[in-house]
Amino acid sequence: MPRHRLEPLRSDGLDPDPLVQFGRWFEQAEREVPLPEAMTLATVDADGRPDARMVLLKGFGTDGFRFFSNYESAKGRQLAERPRAALVIYWRELDRQVRVAGPIARLSVEDSDSYFASRPRDSQVAAAASPQSEAIEGRDWLERRVREIEQANPDALPRPSHWGGYVLEPESIEFWQGGPGRLHDRFRYARGDSGGWRLERLAP
Ligand SMILES: Cc1cc2nc3c(=O)[nH]c(=O)nc-3n(C[C@H](O)[C@H](O)[C@H](O)COP(=O)(O)O)c2cc1C
Repeated sequence: MPRHRLEPLRSDGLDPDPLVQFGRWFEQAEREVPLPEAMTLATVDADGRPDARMVLLKGFGTDGFRFFSNYESAKGRQLAERPRAALVIYWRELDRQVRVAGPIARLSVEDSDSYFASRPRDSQVAAAASPQSEAIEGRDWLERRVREIEQANPDALPRPSHWGGYVLEPESIEFWQGGPGRLHDRFRYARGDSGGWRLERLAP
């Protein structure tokens, strides 16, 4: 059960800009939720088959929601073929869910480089060593790759070209908050034709 019951959501209590509203919720989640940045990323492959997995939100703003991964992984291939995705975050302690959907693009080389450079060395080495989503012969093989990469790069490790960031540009963002008697509150922002946001309450 959530630790506290929040006031029901009302449209006049929501910011007209969903990114500002997300920022408010995220700030509260950072105070009250372990790993508030964990989110499910849903993608589809070229045949329309869905797939989903957890990733970490590494930033958000007017450009969208940012995360990092391996461009040659299953998700990387799916996103290359079908550059649209959906994100879902659930903050159990607040009984809140956020859903985001829209087109997705790679972050700039500069943004990926600077984020990679900011990561701990272990994470850099792991990103370089792991052919993410490929079948491998065993853990020993992976650990050997790690040692080889560490030895070959005693100083700073350059960002591997197969690893970098994505940004999901939201076309819709839905805020859900659990309510008493399962009368939950749901508000969805959708982009209007003029580029502004339209806000509507949805039935729970
Ligand atoms: C809490 C959590 C956070 C994760 N964060 C990331 C991430 O930010 N980037 C990433 O590539 N994989 C992350 N993973 C691993 C992915 O869930 C997944 O196993 C991996 O990316 C391969 O997915 P794919 O085969 O669908 O491409 C995370 C897993 C968990 C459980």
